[in-house]
Amino acid sequence: MNKRVILALATAGLLSAPAFASGDKTAALAATCNNCHGTNGVSVGPSMPSIGGLPEAYLRTVMMQWKSGERYSATMSRLIKGYSDQQIADLAKYFAAKPWVPQPQPVDAKILAQGKAASERCTTCHGDTGSQPDDPAETPQIHGQWAKYMELEMMKYRDNAVAMPHRRMRGNTQRLKEEDVAAVAQYYAAQQK
Ligand code: HEC
Ligand code: HEC
Repeated sequence: MNKRVILALATAGLLSAPAFASGDKTAALAATCNNCHGTNGVSVGPSMPSIGGLPEAYLRTVMMQWKSGERYSATMSRLIKGYSDQQIADLAKYFAAKPWVPQPQPVDAKILAQGKAASERCTTCHGDTGSQPDDPAETPQIHGQWAKYMELEMMKYRDNAVAMPHRRMRGNTQRLKEEDVAAVAQYYAAQQK
């Protein structure tokens, strides 16, 4: 909808009431998600990802990919089938509007250095600390995301038998040495900004 149409509808009183109703409905839907992902999508970890403040387009894309079967998740694939495309779009918008809250995760200095070295092949897309993606719409920030969750996701990208559609993430994680997978996850997890 362009601005002029929105203005015309708002002036005619056609937009405000349904807009509020749909907001309430989305908050009710999101309460189910918060049972696992935490209040406002801020997870208490360690293998449960935070989702509050992730990019709207990214959130919508992954949910639609689970729904179509293009992407695999042991938990989310089944769960998301119960939501309409519109509800998925509303939930993506709802969680994207929440603040991203990096979770402090102390890391051993040696592992931190190992992870930082391994992150060289990640920085072009994710930025030095994971907070400045080159494409902020489609690439999630990963600073302060839970380390164990990121390690498990990388294991999925590394395994060609698991449906993970992003070709370049698959390639980049597959070129990591096995022992660097957990280290690089912990490096990004430890970054607070
Ligand atoms: C029963 C617990 C549970 C519920 C309820 C749940 N999730 Fe999840 N979700 C998970 C787990 C576990 C993962 C990570 C593992 C995986 O993807 O297999 C995940 C992953 C995600 C991710 C990927 C995050 C990322 O960083 O890429 C998104 C987005 C997501 N969930 C959204 C939602 C939304 C929206 C709802 C509510 C409609 C919801 N989840 C409800 C357990 C849950
Ligand atoms: C070519 C750009 C690119 C490179 C290089 C890259 N990534 Fe990614 N990364 C992405 C994109 C885009 C996504 C979202 C992909 C998707 O939809 O599956 C992503 C997703 C992720 C995720 C999942 C985040 C979440 O919230 O579920 C992690 C963890 C991650 N990248 C870590 C890394 C690490 C570690 C490296 C280096 C070994 C790396 N990435 C290299 C672009 C890149």
